[in-house]
Amino acid sequence: MKMVIAGKTQVCGVIGDPIAHTLSPAMHNAAFKHLKLDFVFLAFKVKTADLENAVRGMRGFGIRGLNVTMPHKTAIIRYLANLDANVKFLGSANTILNDGGRLLGFNTDGTGALHALRENGVNPEGKNVLLLGAGGAAKAIAYSLAQDAGALCILNRVPEKAAVWADALNRVFGKKIVGGALSPSAVQKNLQDADILVNATSVGMHPHVDQSLVAPQWLRPDLAVMDIVYNPVETKLAKDAKAAGARVISGVEMLLYQGAVSFQIWTGHAAPIEVMRTAALKQLGRDELK
Ligand SMILES: NC(=O)c1ccc[n+]([C@@H]2O[C@H](COP(=O)([O-])OP(=O)(O)OC[C@H]3O[C@@H](n4cnc5c(N)ncnc54)[C@H](OP(=O)(O)O)[C@@H]3O)[C@@H](O)[C@H]2O)c1
Repeated sequence: MKMVIAGKTQVCGVIGDPIAHTLSPAMHNAAFKHLKLDFVFLAFKVKTADLENAVRGMRGFGIRGLNVTMPHKTAIIRYLANLDANVKFLGSANTILNDGGRLLGFNTDGTGALHALRENGVNPEGKNVLLLGAGGAAKAIAYSLAQDAGALCILNRVPEKAAVWADALNRVFGKKIVGGALSPSAVQKNLQDADILVNATSVGMHPHVDQSLVAPQWLRPDLAVMDIVYNPVETKLAKDAKAAGARVISGVEMLLYQGAVSFQIWTGHAAPIEVMRTAALKQLGRDELK
């Protein structure tokens, strides 16, 4: 069926800068088409100085929903009327729902990561998790994992960020969460007791595709490894983990499931995961993840 844009078509989109390489239009338009929903999804390049105007535009044009990406995830908060509990805690939002002019903020990054793990056969409940990074995505993932994980260790290049976030999470979840410096020896040491490793730094991302924070010999078959970097689809860490016999979850999976949660918020329909995965991988020039 061809997508027909008409008078009643509802608009969703993603705002960010840069935005040209986003996979969201491919994923969401494929999903709208598959479910025969009268929606269209567009990408809008919005500079920092134009964020307020963009939010006014969302209200003025009655845009139903937006994904918000770099660099606006924190700055967008001040324009939103109502914030999800995790948005309040994280101080960042990646999804907005326009409910008759009231802009509601959500953060689906952490939930997306959790779904990506679970849907790929990894249940973090009671598990020992090593998380690399304490940037925006890492904080959202840590927040979601902290509720279920048995223990969580957050390592970051700037160690204070990891320590502050670990303290904040411990105050809420009363769990054993530690934060520290991301040195090779700390990664090696903490990996020995870990069941799940998540790379939530940008290390390994295009064009630095030959970089990884984890030496191949530290990886084991009984480890689950999720690298949230999705460009390239298979990072050096993912390749090394696969070669070591570990279970590997691609960053595309997190992208997919965070998008799926946003899709449900905007449309009220469960997202067609397979359709969205195929569309995202097609845009990345891949037929499948294996
Ligand atoms: N799959 C998905 O759905 C999804 C969603 C969001 C983001 N991502 C990806 O996740 C990555 C991080 O995104 P973000 O939004 O969290 O960015 P961010 O807020 O800028 O955080 C970047 C993180 O990477 C660390 N880092 C950067 N260069 C490093 C290096 N050379 N050595 C060690 N650590 C380094 C930073 O450490 P410092 O704090 O010490 O600088 C920080 O922890 C990006 O590649 C992004 O594309 C994927």
